[in-house]
Amino acid sequence: MEFIDLPQLISAEGTVRLPGSKSISNRVLLLAALSDGETEVRDLLASDDTERMLDALKVLGVGVTHLGGESWQIKGCGGRFPTKNAELFLGNAGTAFRPLTAALALSGGDYVLKGVARMHERPIRDLVDGLRQLGADVTYLENEGYPPLYLKPANILQNGMVKVRGDVSSQFLTGLLMALPLTRQTVVVEVIGELISKPYIEITLATMARFGVQVQRDGWQRFTVAAGSRYVSPGTIYVEGDASSASYFLALGAIGGGPVRVEGVGRDSIQGDVRFAEALAEMGAEIEMGPNWMSAQAPQNGLVAVDLDCNHIPDAAMTLATTALFAKGTTTLRNIASWRVKETDRIAAMAIELRKLGAVVEEGLDFICITPAALKPAAIDTYDDHRMAMCFSLAAFGTPLRINDPKCVAKTFPDYFDRFAAVTKSAPVIAIDGPSASGKGTVAARVATALGYTYLDSGALYRLTALAAQEAGVDWGDEAGVAAIAAGLDVEFSECEIRLNGAVVGDTIRTEEMSAGASIVAALPAVRDALLFRQRAFGKVPGLVGDGRDMGSVVFPGAALKVFLTASAEARAERRYKQLIEKGLSANLPDLLLDLKQRDERDSQRSVAPLRQEADAKLLDTTRLTIEQAVNQVLVWSKEALQ
Ligand code: DC
Repeated sequence: MEFIDLPQLISAEGTVRLPGSKSISNRVLLLAALSDGETEVRDLLASDDTERMLDALKVLGVGVTHLGGESWQIKGCGGRFPTKNAELFLGNAGTAFRPLTAALALSGGDYVLKGVARMHERPIRDLVDGLRQLGADVTYLENEGYPPLYLKPANILQNGMVKVRGDVSSQFLTGLLMALPLTRQTVVVEVIGELISKPYIEITLATMARFGVQVQRDGWQRFTVAAGSRYVSPGTIYVEGDASSASYFLALGAIGGGPVRVEGVGRDSIQGDVRFAEALAEMGAEIEMGPNWMSAQAPQNGLVAVDLDCNHIPDAAMTLATTALFAKGTTTLRNIASWRVKETDRIAAMAIELRKLGAVVEEGLDFICITPAALKPAAIDTYDDHRMAMCFSLAAFGTPLRINDPKCVAKTFPDYFDRFAAVTKSAPVIAIDGPSASGKGTVAARVATALGYTYLDSGALYRLTALAAQEAGVDWGDEAGVAAIAAGLDVEFSECEIRLNGAVVGDTIRTEEMSAGASIVAALPAVRDALLFRQRAFGKVPGLVGDGRDMGSVVFPGAALKVFLTASAEARAERRYKQLIEKGLSANLPDLLLDLKQRDERDSQRSVAPLRQEADAKLLDTTRLTIEQAVNQVLVWSKEALQ
């Protein structure tokens, strides 16, 4: 499983140019394909969902040309797809599946429409029922009411009247409306029940209007597409930035100081999710807006909880759920039943993952309540849902965390985590690596105290693993066995002591026997993997000093300062000898020297994370330095690095 580990964040500030809106991109592509004439589409979103639509259009014989960058040319087919017989795979792209179902059902060909397993669990009955009322021939290939579907040519009835449910997903109404001009006759659509996510219907109507089709609207109950309506290319069309994607960056600004400015959507947007900014303002954030930009800044006295009906911002409302972790009080998001039929059951997924971080969560059929708490590190699952991954990145303001399968953001925002990194600042890390007994532990601990940072003695984790394995009777060479011990290590670090399974370990991990054991278990890749996140979880505000062998190379490759601290083997053996004698222990200098050299050899020759000086690490040879001199040198470097 791929993952991304986020250190705790300190602040957020900057400007983000947003990728194109997913909703508008896929609507524009389909309407351009159904139009008479060629359309140049600019600022199209490059993502999984738009790729599914582009691929489908190509399969259907539509002329699709990439003009470079985010620009595409679509050669419209005037509502008659050249390919009359095709099988389409649409992944998990609801914004491709629903409208294509409607358009293809009314376009007189034989088509099979399929998706990933989750797509086959997302209901489509209301749309199919609507199409059948017009005479369309649609068959469910597996389960009644769900994709995959088989569409056949059919006689479309005259003077149609369609009743469609509006309370499960607005995408059904969108799909129907966009396909109706293909019938070449007047059709009235009546919505049964409360229409949800109305702003998405606004996007549909506005986009249809850009392609020359005016839908007559009677409140939110009746929509009429008149006979003779035809899509005509607008020539060139620009896709707005994605307002749902904007929500993450606005929230970053609201939580992390800001201002964070997003460009590509603003006051003049046709996307309902721009109203996320109002919700954020209700939480106390300072929002500014221009025609095509918005910015958010944290309030002086912190964010406050809200109790909100989120029906009008179903996608962006997810961002409120993780923003709530930083707001005083209990936030309640209501009227969000549609979350349950999205990429995953988003209410359930949100509740499970928020609880992993320590938040108190209550969920109901159509609501979620979140009460913040001191957050703890956790590995967050994302359920193949781009929004889960993006929402949970905000939680990094409260704790270091791991996000599993982060590439799922490709559905709408492939380079999300790069943009995220560009506007956020995380807790600084000073990585000090070096061989055994080089004095790096003492230096690292003193630097941490001087800066008020946390100190991570990563070697202690390997020593504790060796000790725990020995206590459990697991052989140090048993990779799987020791890795399991490392993964479940019950250890507590405090100012002056380390506890293993509740008991103070003291010097038991510092013996020569445990030094050898640690060196052996540290060479096992599975053990290193098991300890990776545990080490990164120390990356907390205000900062961290970590010492070990691979702090700068593997655990904290983005460290603000990397130091390779070493001394001659003879000097190190002598220091260790003095330490042991001072403790009243017996010691033999030649043996210690031999032992050190063997350990150096094992630590630097092993295949995983070997001890070596990174190209960007500063060398500090302490053979002739006192501890104070070494500490001062690291403090001077860190001052330079942290400026
Ligand atoms: O720093 P130390 O002597 O306490 O480390 C004990 C052992 O753990 C040492 O043999 C190397 C290994 N180690 C490692 O492989 N990677 C680290 N980051 C820290 C220690």
